[in-house]
Amino acid sequence: MRSYTLIAPAKINLYLEIIGDRPDGYHELAMILQSIALADQIDLEANGIELIRLRCDNKQVPVDKSNLAYRAADLMVSEFPDSFATYGGVDITLHKRIPVAAGLAGGSTDAAAVLVGMDLLWKLGLTKLELEELAAKIGSDVPFCIGGGTAIATRRGEVLSSLSDLGDIYIVLAKYRSLEVSTAWAYNTYRSLYGDRYIKDTESLAERASAVNSGEIVQAIIRQNVKEIADKMRNDLEKVVLPEYPQVLQLKESLAKYDILGTMMSGSGPSVFALCESKEKAEQVKLSLRNEIPDTDLELFVTRLITHGIQVAS
Ligand code: C5P
Repeated sequence: MRSYTLIAPAKINLYLEIIGDRPDGYHELAMILQSIALADQIDLEANGIELIRLRCDNKQVPVDKSNLAYRAADLMVSEFPDSFATYGGVDITLHKRIPVAAGLAGGSTDAAAVLVGMDLLWKLGLTKLELEELAAKIGSDVPFCIGGGTAIATRRGEVLSSLSDLGDIYIVLAKYRSLEVSTAWAYNTYRSLYGDRYIKDTESLAERASAVNSGEIVQAIIRQNVKEIADKMRNDLEKVVLPEYPQVLQLKESLAKYDILGTMMSGSGPSVFALCESKEKAEQVKLSLRNEIPDTDLELFVTRLITHGIQVAS
């Protein structure tokens, strides 16, 4: 039976601004999302029976309906019942390389890969836009993960506008293995602390969101000025995560001492990244941080910014 192997890259946020509340309980955001080379591998095989089966090589990852990859397959089954009747379900194997619950969209990118893979397995011929629309039903970061690269994401995070590619920029990524931050907790805590400052009227919300298009960090990206990009990075969720998780704050402070361009927490954390001007610099910073914090619970990666999302390997 036909099978596919897909590569599903993680993302970091170069910018995350919380603008206001939404009637659906989510937040209006203005973000800049960036794919990185650190990726999971997803194997998909049509199994000819009426079942979705999920396996993962990381015991930390649930393999039931709470897994976004499972939910993606379930969504395809309900959206395309005729294909399910013709081809049957899928066996999904996740080879996890992206740290879990880290603010790196690890679960979201696996779900995006399942959508892309099942479109191929079931010969549906869906467009990128159609895949993104399905992806938005699974989670706010899933649409971006389909096409990846560098993009502005507004509304819940699902309205995307591509930016020029950023090439040859390396990052050091740091995450305590045992530390997990709930995205819902981070946003809800932010609301309870800063909700009174949210923009309330619809027109001003839309204006604020579109202001990101001409904002300084977008200009820096267009000019490919990495130092300026690093200077203009912003993540509002740091305001709630850093005080609650001193280890994350310590990582940021440690990284800031080295010869880097800038450092920030990604998404709702707890992973922290540092932008570096070369691979050699990034390797040096990783080594120095490892010497400073020999804790084996601390995972460190050197990886680079990339210009694509889900790729079919075979
Ligand atoms: O969409 P996703 O399931 O990834 O979001 C996880 C949680 O993050 C949501 O339940 C919500 O609490 C919060 N969130 C939010 N506003 C967004 C995206 C996520 O409040 N735009």
